[in-house]
Amino acid sequence: MTSSLKHIGVLTSGGDAPGMNAAIRAVVRCALHHGLKVTGIPEGYSGLLGGELKPLNSLSVSNIINLGGTFLKSARCMEFYKPEGRTQAAERLEAEGIDALVVIGGDGSFTGAVALSREHKVSVVGIPGTIDNDIYGTDFTIGFDTAINTVQSAIDKIRDTATSHNRLFFIEVMGRDAGYIALYSGIGAGSEEILIPEQSRGLDYLLQSLERSGRAGKTSSIVVVAEGDKSGGVYELAKAVEETLPGYSSKVTVLGHLQRGGSPTCTDRVLASRLGVAAVDTLRDGTSGVMVGLRNNRISLTGLEKACKERPDIDAELIRVSEIVST
Ligand code: F6P
Repeated sequence: MTSSLKHIGVLTSGGDAPGMNAAIRAVVRCALHHGLKVTGIPEGYSGLLGGELKPLNSLSVSNIINLGGTFLKSARCMEFYKPEGRTQAAERLEAEGIDALVVIGGDGSFTGAVALSREHKVSVVGIPGTIDNDIYGTDFTIGFDTAINTVQSAIDKIRDTATSHNRLFFIEVMGRDAGYIALYSGIGAGSEEILIPEQSRGLDYLLQSLERSGRAGKTSSIVVVAEGDKSGGVYELAKAVEETLPGYSSKVTVLGHLQRGGSPTCTDRVLASRLGVAAVDTLRDGTSGVMVGLRNNRISLTGLEKACKERPDIDAELIRVSEIVST
């Protein structure tokens, strides 16, 4: 353990994700368990530049494990992208006596953390929190499980009406430029097709597949489309299908930000608790500049820079499964 570590700052940055509160709670409780002081930094990096810092105790994080969002609030801070912003942040950390920072967020948040640690030697550990599951170095990110369950339940409801009216639904899901939310929720909800950016199957493929389904007797279908898919977007796809296959009545649902909200699943709460404790343990061991993640159900450390730069591969086995079970 590093004897110099006495005071940890924690912040949530980028898009919020269900389970971020559980992660903050774990960071706070683990730090207190080891006699360390913890300060909550509001609204991501912008809170470091001028926000009102909150000393956190065990009670401050009571009754939040079940809550979506982040009680510290989150933001994407443009000033922090500039070196002057990071200098100001480092000076604030020093003035407040904060010797290490835990950053809960996605790759954009980690990019800021890498720059802060490189330029100002600030000790930082990252915790992957994003619904997109697009971070290298962890099998799952905090919030992903809740998001895919939310999407799955929405698709189940849409399927009821799709079946009753013999309709084809295009359902756009989040994920930025990654297809994990689409792939997992599409398999879980039994969708007929899943379009993800990693595959780029295009319109012709979709039209042929829908024609086959029609010939096989299917009267309704669900197509899950990742927002990053490059086939032209859900509205264009629906239009193209109606023009090419007149037998289909198409509808579009964009699920949007409801995917980011809601009470975290047990899986996300446990993941967040494990990663929160691991982040504090890592700093206590004298290690920084890393992200704590879970690989094969074991805590694993990845250099923060690598976690920002690399992208996890989409699981080829899952794609194969989706193709087999959707026919
Ligand atoms: O990264 C999380 C995410 O929800 C993405 O899936 C989505 O593309 C983006 O954030 C939306 O960002 P905003 O809330 O700023 O519109």
